[in-house]
Amino acid sequence: MSHTLLVTSSPRGGDSLSTRFATEIAEGIQARAGGPLIVRDLAANPPPHIAPAYIQGRITSPGDRTSEQVEAVKVAQELVDELKVADVIVLGSGMINFGLPSQLKAWFDHVTWPGVTFGYGDTGPKGLLAGKKVYLVTATGGVFSEGAWAPFDFQTNYLLHLLGFIGLTDVEVVRVEGTVFGPDAAKAAIANTETAIKALLAKAA
Ligand SMILES: Cc1cc2nc3c(=O)[nH]c(=O)nc-3n(C[C@H](O)[C@H](O)[C@H](O)COP(=O)(O)O)c2cc1C
Repeated sequence: MSHTLLVTSSPRGGDSLSTRFATEIAEGIQARAGGPLIVRDLAANPPPHIAPAYIQGRITSPGDRTSEQVEAVKVAQELVDELKVADVIVLGSGMINFGLPSQLKAWFDHVTWPGVTFGYGDTGPKGLLAGKKVYLVTATGGVFSEGAWAPFDFQTNYLLHLLGFIGLTDVEVVRVEGTVFGPDAAKAAIANTETAIKALLAKAA
């Protein structure tokens, strides 16, 4: 049995390709491994931007927190607890202005928590979430895996860095890209991703 956590973040609702394919992977993994599937839809329920109540609250001992700090830290604690219990994490992210959706950034701002998901050792920062498998689905209108636009992929590289920083280093990336170049290109991009997911799920079985 395995705990699967699906985190989706696209603001495009039912049109979202990252949500569609991340959901397909999470459901496929769960069908094979069994166990619960927790869905965290960050577009439907975006975490707030972090604010002083959270910044101060998380370094204040629980008994000394104001009620506002208690509420702010509770949001982060819930998101971190979902991560900690998960064996497999499937993350969907659709590129917005060359980066990740702000809803997903707000999620990272809550789960990147010193002393909880990362610490500082003798050799620098150390991620504390170990032994988890991550599938990262990134959707982009342009093509960023290669070619002239590759240096401007501030989504996938940044997400890999953020995940690694909290200890999530076993990451398989699935891209759906090049969907803005007309219906035929979009169809081909989607077909490529479907093929990649079939292979990925066959391997995961
Ligand atoms: C507000 C907005 C900004 C976007 N910015 C970019 C961008 O900077 N580069 C790009 O290649 N595609 C961009 N796109 C296209 C999306 O990345 C593309 O539609 C992708 O499929 C979005 O992910 P989703 O399908 O999961 O929603 C943008 C789309 C929207 C709605």
